[in-house]
Amino acid sequence: MAVKQDLRTPIVSVMGHVDHGKTTLLDRIRGSTVAEGEAGAITQHIGATEVPIDIIVNKCGNPDLRNKFIVPGLLFIDTPGHHAFTSLRSRGGSLADLAIVIIDINEGFMPQTIESLQILKRFKTPFVVVANKIDRIHGWEAQKNAPFIVSYNKQADNVKAELDRKFYEIVGELYEAGFNSERHDRVSDFQRNIGIIPISAMTGEGIPDVLMVLLGLAQRFLEGNLHYNANGPGVGTVLEVKEEKGLGTTIDVILYDGTLKKGDMIVVGSLGKPIQTKVRALLKPRPLSEIKAEEKFKQVQSVTAAIGVKISAPNLDSALAGSPVRVVTPENIDAISDEIQNEIEDV
Ligand code: GTP
Ligand code: MG
Repeated sequence: MAVKQDLRTPIVSVMGHVDHGKTTLLDRIRGSTVAEGEAGAITQHIGATEVPIDIIVNKCGNPDLRNKFIVPGLLFIDTPGHHAFTSLRSRGGSLADLAIVIIDINEGFMPQTIESLQILKRFKTPFVVVANKIDRIHGWEAQKNAPFIVSYNKQADNVKAELDRKFYEIVGELYEAGFNSERHDRVSDFQRNIGIIPISAMTGEGIPDVLMVLLGLAQRFLEGNLHYNANGPGVGTVLEVKEEKGLGTTIDVILYDGTLKKGDMIVVGSLGKPIQTKVRALLKPRPLSEIKAEEKFKQVQSVTAAIGVKISAPNLDSALAGSPVRVVTPENIDAISDEIQNEIEDV
């Protein structure tokens, strides 16, 4: 396979208004691949889902693609759509190499749709729009897990016309927000046009297209950004600070560079002086097959980017969601603490 070892997995944030289908889309990407007998290949991380390249290529149904792509897979991050979670969305946006903005095609643009677009504009993150819930269009005949165009071509003319009408409302709204867009299969230059993919997260229609377009974007825009040093010190962002029974305060982290090991000294951003502490345990969710185990988490000795992981360590009570986490040495611990403190004050 043509995966270059020095390119890490791109991080893909799923953003959009409340109830437009972010979590269902990720469930579909996870679930349908498991249903196809690939159980165990999809890794559930803390706050993230990793889909390996082989599975994506399989789902796209064209084995020739195998030699074309350079990334090892895609790491999806779900974000909440409720208006109260602006900072989490902003964090999701800033972490992301790529993003999906999901819009309920029957509802169109809503406040957090616009907010998501603004965040992506600010961070210059390449993204694709998905127009979800096409199965709710009156008269729609669902074609389970089919590529969009296969399903579209099987619909009655009046149903096609209704989809087109709703679709072009979204094109109009994107135009007002400052983006040129077109249906994904008609976009020839993703630098000039945003692709919109009509899908149903419920029936799986259009999901192969979503995976395909994301790989295309990764290929096109990210090759230069995904170089990383697997052997270098771990660098990540705190996604959430959480109390866990028996563990005290833990942090859920997305690691985007280097390696993090049990016993490493780390510096974590907080509202006051950055926390200097030592990793007591690295925890990952148990795979589905082990779900009956007493403990929710499983300890690992080390993790390498890009990955989601829970860190248990002393003194994390004042850790700040959204702030940096870095592995340090006795030589650079004070310099890096200062850097992190300055970074937080600048935001
Ligand atoms: P928040 O996390 O609260 O922002 O919502 P979300 O964007 O994650 O939405 P979620 O996936 O929870 O979906 C909201 C509701 O819409 C659920 O009842 C889903 O079953 C339903 N839903 C999601 N996608 C589809 C779809 O493609 N078709 C239909 N008919 N229903 C859908
Ligand atoms: Mg959700």
